Amino acid sequence: MNLLCVSLLVIVAVMTGALGCPSDFLGISSSCVKVVIAAGIGERPVSWKVAREGCKTLGTDLAVMNVSSKVEHLSAHIDEVFPKSSYSFWVGGHKINGQWKWVTDQTINLKSNLWVPNSPKKDHRITFALLVPDSVHRRWYLNENGDWASGYICEIF
Ligand SMILES: *[C@@H]1O[C@H](CO)[C@@H](O)[C@H](O)[C@H]1NC(C)=O
Repeated sequence: MNLLCVSLLVIVAVMTGALGCPSDFLGISSSCVKVVIAAGIGERPVSWKVAREGCKTLGTDLAVMNVSSKVEHLSAHIDEVFPKSSYSFWVGGHKINGQWKWVTDQTINLKSNLWVPNSPKKDHRITFALLVPDSVHRRWYLNENGDWASGYICEIF
């Protein structure tokens, strides 16, 4: 193989790596994410920690939903694949020492309109971020919750 062929192969490999996602992941806003339903009808919902373990076994972590276009693309996908379901999904936000952070250690913007109005609240043991549907306004919001969710969103970092 001459140098040109080798260079072309390298370029193609880099491009597919940069643009493509593994086949069971969804490409949104230059990220690769996976929507996992942990609890179908009649099954047990999962805690944030169990959800995070689930992502880790896939070599991923819970998703960072810090940009509205990303939430919009993901929401459109969920609405299409699971129409009229009432699933909610853990994402990678948690409160550590009173500070909301993404699993990537970035601070979460609490003023962002991605949050349900009037959330997150000041006090509480409610320490994990969730993506919840709002059927009235037909959109998805970040919300805070300490308990269980039926699914979770993993992201490849
Ligand atoms: C959102 O998170 C990604 C990944 O952690 C980061 O690269 C990006 O700068 C963040 N964007 C904003 C607006 O916070």
